[in-house]
Amino acid sequence: MTAVAISEPGGPMVLKPEERPVPKPGQGEILIKVKAAGVNRPDVAQRKGIYPPPPGASDLPGLEAAGEVAAIGPGVRRWRLGDQVTALTPGGAYAEYCLVHETNALPIPQGFTFTEAAALPETFFTVWHNVFERGALKPGETLLVHGGSSGIGTTAIQLGTAFGAAVIATAGSAEKCEACLKLGARRAINYRAEDFVLAVKEATEGRGADVILDMVGGDYIERNYAAAAMDGRIVQIAVLGGASAKTDFSKLMVKRLTHTGSTLRPRSIEFKAHIAAELEARVWPLLATRKIAPVMDTIFPLREAWRAHERMEESVHIGKIVLDVA
Ligand SMILES: NC(=O)c1ccc[n+]([C@@H]2O[C@H](COP(=O)([O-])OP(=O)(O)OC[C@H]3O[C@@H](n4cnc5c(N)ncnc54)[C@H](OP(=O)(O)O)[C@@H]3O)[C@@H](O)[C@H]2O)c1
Repeated sequence: MTAVAISEPGGPMVLKPEERPVPKPGQGEILIKVKAAGVNRPDVAQRKGIYPPPPGASDLPGLEAAGEVAAIGPGVRRWRLGDQVTALTPGGAYAEYCLVHETNALPIPQGFTFTEAAALPETFFTVWHNVFERGALKPGETLLVHGGSSGIGTTAIQLGTAFGAAVIATAGSAEKCEACLKLGARRAINYRAEDFVLAVKEATEGRGADVILDMVGGDYIERNYAAAAMDGRIVQIAVLGGASAKTDFSKLMVKRLTHTGSTLRPRSIEFKAHIAAELEARVWPLLATRKIAPVMDTIFPLREAWRAHERMEESVHIGKIVLDVA
């Protein structure tokens, strides 16, 4: 099969097509004939050599794939040959075939193309767990989403809104802010032009945000504490702006804040299966009626995965970048 591998740590051009043997499904696994694969910021980190695959995962990049079931391992119960699925993978989706545990795959929502379906798993699993489970967002609360125009951000705005929260988003340009508003955000803050702490306070009549989904870290940590409401929950999913910070922790006590975080990729198959089941029950019906849908930015052919990474690193995209593997 043709796959795109990371030939050495480095820039986008280290992503090179190569021939690999088609993997064989083990116990409980299905082999997907990949039609499309989503591109995520963690793939960029893996390419740079700062986010190695967890033990046992493919060395190929790619955390999500949509396609058809092409082979079935022993013990597989749910899927049959030819079924159309979209799946969260621990790696290996930048390829014509990819293995996944059957419980980490979901049916393609009705009416979705393969490229749309491939844009779902990584951000929907991440947002569901971090916003609704760790952050315990409730209807009527305010959710602040940093990086509102990112793959993660566009999903968080839509899910937060669909489940009854008032969403405020930050983004780095007027165009990105406009996109956040179209997705349902009540207020979008261009962080290059406005102080998000003041803007959040203003938008919430001084209360602050109940849940903050943050991928920036660095000096945002202290500012998130300032923008949070009493009993607020701050969920860290990345530290794009820096992994260390000098922070006054007194606000943590005074406001009774919870600061938590997680990374999805190294979690167990069983944990991911639990999120898959939650998503299928509570979110897939919203996708089937298009109440929510992935925001599609650009589609590149698999062999040109380097162009997809280049675009992601330019940070001009809004929503998801996807590879066409057909
Ligand atoms: N913890 C987990 O389980 C998990 C899972 C998936 C993804 N993630 C993380 O979540 C983040 C978003 O992922 P994604 O795939 O949605 O990526 P993406 O679409 O490339 O989004 C990154 C966003 O961050 C914004 N940003 C803010 N400050 C930044 C900075 N200092 N450097 C770079 N970008 C900055 C960028 O736009 P503007 O600055 O213009 O607003 C952009 O919208 C990534 O950091 C990724 O690693 C974490």
